[in-house]
Parts: sequence; C-alpha cells; structure tokens
Amino acid sequence: MQGHDFLTGQEFSVAETRKLIELAEAVKKSPPAYQHALEGKTLAMVFQKTSTRTRMSFEVGMKQLGGHVVYMDWRQTNLVLGDLQDEVKCMARYADLIVARVNEHADLKAMAMASDKPVINGLCNLYHPCQGLADMLTVKEKLGSFKGKKLAFVGDGNNVCHSLLIEGALLGLRLSVASPKGFEPDQGIVEWAQGLTEVEVCREPAKAVEDADVVYTDTWVSMGQEAGVQQKVKAFQGYQVQAQLVPRKALFMHCLPAHRNCEVTNEVLDGKNSVVFDQAENRLHAQKALLLVLGGCVG
Ligand code: CP
Ligand code: NVA
Repeated sequence: MQGHDFLTGQEFSVAETRKLIELAEAVKKSPPAYQHALEGKTLAMVFQKTSTRTRMSFEVGMKQLGGHVVYMDWRQTNLVLGDLQDEVKCMARYADLIVARVNEHADLKAMAMASDKPVINGLCNLYHPCQGLADMLTVKEKLGSFKGKKLAFVGDGNNVCHSLLIEGALLGLRLSVASPKGFEPDQGIVEWAQGLTEVEVCREPAKAVEDADVVYTDTWVSMGQEAGVQQKVKAFQGYQVQAQLVPRKALFMHCLPAHRNCEVTNEVLDGKNSVVFDQAENRLHAQKALLLVLGGCVG
C-alpha cells in the first residue's frame, strides 16, 4: 500500500481496508509504539476550504508519529497564480505526503498525477474518504464487527454519503440511503458498492432506517453550496433525523459540523446513542494508520 494515493478509498482492496482498520485500532491502543515511525518525514497540507477536524487531526497525528507538518491555505500560495501541476511537483520535492482539501475532485486527480508522493483527499465535492475510514473504526469499536450490521444514511447523497458507501461496502456493512429527489448519491458509486454488499437507495427515511444499527446524517448544505440554501432546505423537509426515526438501539452518527436542529434535532445529536465526538476523535487514529501505511512505515 506504500506510495498509493488515497483519493476515493477505492484504491485499497477489501483485505487492505480491513488491515488499515486493524492498524488504526493498534495505533489507538498504543500511541507510543508509533511515536518515531515518521521521524524526518514531512506532511504538506493544502486547503482550499475551511476545516476544524481534518486539519487538527492530521497535524496532531503527524506530530504524534514524529513527523513535521506544513499547513498552507490555498489562497496564501501561488496555486492562485501558477499551474496546479507545476506547483504540486514543487511541493512533492519538499514533502513526503500531501493532504489536499479542494473544491473539485478533478483537481485532486491532477495533483496526484503530478506528485510522485502520495496524495490524500482531505475532502472534495465528491468524496471524504478519511471521514469514511474513521467512521468505520467507530462502527467497529461500537458494534464489535461489520458483518450483518446495517448503516442507514438519511439526507443529501453527498461526499460523506459516497465515502460511507465505499468504505462500508469494502468492510461488508449493509447500507441504505434515503434522499429527496435530485439529491440521491451518485449512481456509479452506488453500483460499485452494490458489487460488494447490499445497498438500497430509497426516498423514505423510515424505510431506510428499518433494522438499522447506525443512523447517519450530514449537513444539507455542503461547503461551497451556500447559494440556493432556501430551496435546498425546502427539498429536505421530512428528512430531519428526529428521535422517533432512530431505532431504539441504533447509534447516531454525524461527521460534524452539524447545523443543529436542521438535519438533526439537538435531542438526537446530544442523545445517549450519539457517538459524534468519538467519530471526531477517531479521525486522529484512522489517519495515523493511513499515514503509516502510505508513508511506507508499516503494512
Ligand atoms: N468532519 C470534517 O471533515 O470536519 P472539518 O470540515 O471541520 O474538517
Ligand atoms: N458534506 C460536508 C462535510 C463537511 C465535513 C461538506 O462538504 O461541507
């Protein structure tokens, strides 16, 4: 797995993804065992959008592995002037690994082509694979295994939904999605996931959450989609995750940031089955495992 890019999560096989989760569990259990693993290595982080969790968890994670971090706000770099691939080729001369958060997935692909160092997707319009990976670590911790367990996503068929479909399918979860018309997940990703597991896409939240072990939602308005908010909110009426929608024993998950009392009620978000802060913590452990593997230090 060394030297791979991590743009969608589909770069890794079922067996490699399982190994990644096992490594994340080991890293979480014994942080000191890995504290020198990336000594002398540098992670470049280039962000076109704002971030709390992704930025902090990568910065802290890389430092906990003994490495260095250079954070660059896209607008403060000559990515605003120069050719994207020229700029990335230069970054790859200084850094051993690159994390990028960008508007367009096509830009990530261009970056990965230009870079001879691994490029990690820190979120784009289509995918959020680091979130998906960390969420699978949380599911495994809370439910003990993936086999036979069902995750239901209610809301916008967005980047987070796509990455849950990909990571969930690789690890063998049963998956369902309920979205309003026009906001369904990408058909190509759904079909790819259906090649690995049971995936249902429907209109009705109540149908999607039947028998679910996890109910997941995300914002209805992703970063960069702020235009037309009013119309979007209208389309999502009936898709708010409320207490009566969530099966009694099901976990509630959300990648955060949440728009409180919009896509989910405070009652659910703050309820006893909500694991949203464990998810946020697991970004750290899962991404440390990813850095170790892509950096060639294990696996
Ligand atoms: N969940 C997540 O990626 O959060 P940030 O946008 O704050 O990084
Ligand atoms: N779908 C959200 C996820 C934020 C972590 C967005 O892209 O803004």
